[in-house]
Amino acid sequence: MTNITRRTLLIGSVGVTGALTVGGLVGCGRSRTAVGAGSAAVLSTEATRRPTGQRVVTAQLNPRAASIDLGGLSMATWAYGETVPGPLLRASAGDRLRVAVTNTLTAPTSVHWHGIALRNDMDGVPGITQKPIDPGTGFTYDFTAPEPGTYFYHPHSGVQLDRGLHGVLIIDDPHEPGQYDQEWIVVLDDWIDGTGTTPDEVLKNLQTTNGSGGMGGGMGGMGGMGGSGIGESMQSPLLGGAGDIAYPHYLVNGRIPTSPVTLAGKPGQRVRMRVVNAGSDTAFRLALGGHRMTVTHTDGYPVEPAVTDALLIGMGERFDVLVTLADGAFPLVAAAEGKSGQGMAVVRTSPAAAAPAATATPSELTGRVMLGTDLLAAASSALPDRGVDTTHDLVLGGSMAGYRWTLNGKSFPDTDPLEVRQGQRVRLRFRNHTMMFHPMHVHGHTFALTAGGARKDTLIVRPMQTVEVDLQADNPGQWATHCHNIYHAEAGMMTTLSYQS
Ligand code: C2O
Ligand code: CU
Repeated sequence: MTNITRRTLLIGSVGVTGALTVGGLVGCGRSRTAVGAGSAAVLSTEATRRPTGQRVVTAQLNPRAASIDLGGLSMATWAYGETVPGPLLRASAGDRLRVAVTNTLTAPTSVHWHGIALRNDMDGVPGITQKPIDPGTGFTYDFTAPEPGTYFYHPHSGVQLDRGLHGVLIIDDPHEPGQYDQEWIVVLDDWIDGTGTTPDEVLKNLQTTNGSGGMGGGMGGMGGMGGSGIGESMQSPLLGGAGDIAYPHYLVNGRIPTSPVTLAGKPGQRVRMRVVNAGSDTAFRLALGGHRMTVTHTDGYPVEPAVTDALLIGMGERFDVLVTLADGAFPLVAAAEGKSGQGMAVVRTSPAAAAPAATATPSELTGRVMLGTDLLAAASSALPDRGVDTTHDLVLGGSMAGYRWTLNGKSFPDTDPLEVRQGQRVRLRFRNHTMMFHPMHVHGHTFALTAGGARKDTLIVRPMQTVEVDLQADNPGQWATHCHNIYHAEAGMMTTLSYQS
């Protein structure tokens, strides 16, 4: 690993879980101290989540070098097994998960449980909640998963997410009626690893070319942050600058569109699709030819059901949708927003119907397009009304020099922590001062968009847009808060939601 990032330096300086965390020294001279990942407050909060007779679900993950078949195309990459996505992990709300991770990679790694409101010391963020899992060593994650929903897991180490290291985690709701005949899991991904480069090299290239070296000739650059280096091919009418990297492949369930996965059903069946965008630099516009979709959940939480032709899904976002299957064979297309290329799966209810072409562009793609910020919370997901105790602005910015992304003008680990106290109602104001979209993610919490919007943990903030969200500070610790464009996060667009005692 020649690419020494600031994060690497941070890991070196804050190597031990405990009271010393990012922001722990900021309050010098004041009486506040940061609530550490393994502190008493964290442990007692976990204890309240554990019912007597709690069920334990165990699993193993072994990140390793692997050769993966993307559909007649073999790629050398890092993965959690023989396939990408990795193994599906599944439990019920209130269960305890015990996942033993054995690292046989050549680099330190970690596993983050994206969207789960878990105990802070199991959040999987080296330098903030744990030591990195060094090559040849292991770590067992052990936590209660309190809320049902569609989640995923991935490393929180460098740009490893942009390898084949991710998988879906479903927490079932034991009380949900489940009014559908089938469930399909749909994972969207942008792929570059093993195509003559690696994500680490891509990042290095972006840093040495000030953001204009996005590979593949796309030159998305800094998405219009300063004017130059913006490629037409990386612009989206909905998102402005749509990415920094033109990927050679876009995948649905680990397959390129010329060799798609088939999702089989019968005409008239109701299907619940659980959709995860596991991409690193690509928002996907998802549509199913010949069908409309009813959105029922986002980021695990129920929404007011909303019918749409297409969904625009940022990196790290999840949507559950219901569809009633028609008769035939239909393209389920995930178009790379603002880029050229798409992922595709085939939805088939008739064995005789002709397969859609890999380049199929169903008209639904340009029909009604919905974003997570357009949804309303279902009554059961609403955050109870309360006055706001503290407000934090997060100005999203960047500088072309050296491919540096910022929150409130600073790059991680030099960013100012967002200080909160347990019990507070916290308002976060994401203010995007760039010409590019950023999918912002808060660990360990699910926030509510103000004015009755959806409960979410990841949301798209469009260029020059301000989005306000509220959260209840009920999960003590130090929580990574960052852009889920993994290159932006690694290049500084990250801070912590930092509980103080
Ligand atoms: Cu998928 Cu820090 O997140
Ligand atoms: Cu970003």
